[in-house]
Amino acid sequence: MAKEITKTTTKTITADPRLYAALDLPTIEDARALVADLGDSVVSYKIGLQLIPIGGTEFGKELIAQGKNVFFDYKLHDIGATVEKATRSLAPMGADLLTVHGTPDVMAAAVRGRGHSRLKIMAVTVLTSLDDEALMEMGYFMKAEELVLHRVRQAIRAGVDGVISSPLEAEKIRAMVPKGFLVVTPGVRMPGGDKGDQKRVATPGSALQNGASHIVVGRPISQANDPRAAVQAILANMHALSV
Ligand code: C5P
Repeated sequence: MAKEITKTTTKTITADPRLYAALDLPTIEDARALVADLGDSVVSYKIGLQLIPIGGTEFGKELIAQGKNVFFDYKLHDIGATVEKATRSLAPMGADLLTVHGTPDVMAAAVRGRGHSRLKIMAVTVLTSLDDEALMEMGYFMKAEELVLHRVRQAIRAGVDGVISSPLEAEKIRAMVPKGFLVVTPGVRMPGGDKGDQKRVATPGSALQNGASHIVVGRPISQANDPRAAVQAILANMHALSV
């Protein structure tokens, strides 16, 4: 009797712009290779401190020219006048998101700097690698969650477009921000995934369910043996739990 052949077809899940893949890689060539490998399965990329000093900004412009969404994670932290001028330099490039640290004055300076461009100003609340103990060591005497919510209130007052937070705080933030306010969450891991130095983490689907508008995933994609498969698993998790 002929052996029955069972054909298994795995459907490719299409890109979701809410997923920003962080290009934390040693060279522009490595970043370009990862983007090529991921092809049309990822449309949003974050460029941060590892690539910026070695041509990351120019590479971001290259991605924008290819139709990708780009998040410049510059974490601008300086006096307001300088942050305003730095934002003004970045605004015409066509990126979607830019991070800024600091007091409400500094956040408001970034908002002035972006003018009428499409660039959205994102205030960093508390890095997802910091927990209560680490904050105490730095001299902050508020618990991580309390400090995050304090910074969110300041961010709203300063007129920024959104905040960066851990997925664990997204639900409380969503409940206090105006409609359309962005809540972007790094610290995203697949169930059982290696946390690395991240402390306040959740899965992709639960981050969105908690109220994140976008998620950032770095090492679980860039360090995967098969980054495309890693993206597919993340997209499946996003869609299984979120709407
Ligand atoms: O590799 P992993 O998924 O932990 O990468 C998270 C990315 O998000 C890193 O590029 C990190 O710099 C960034 N990030 C963060 N926490 C913030 C803001 C940005 O982890 N609060």
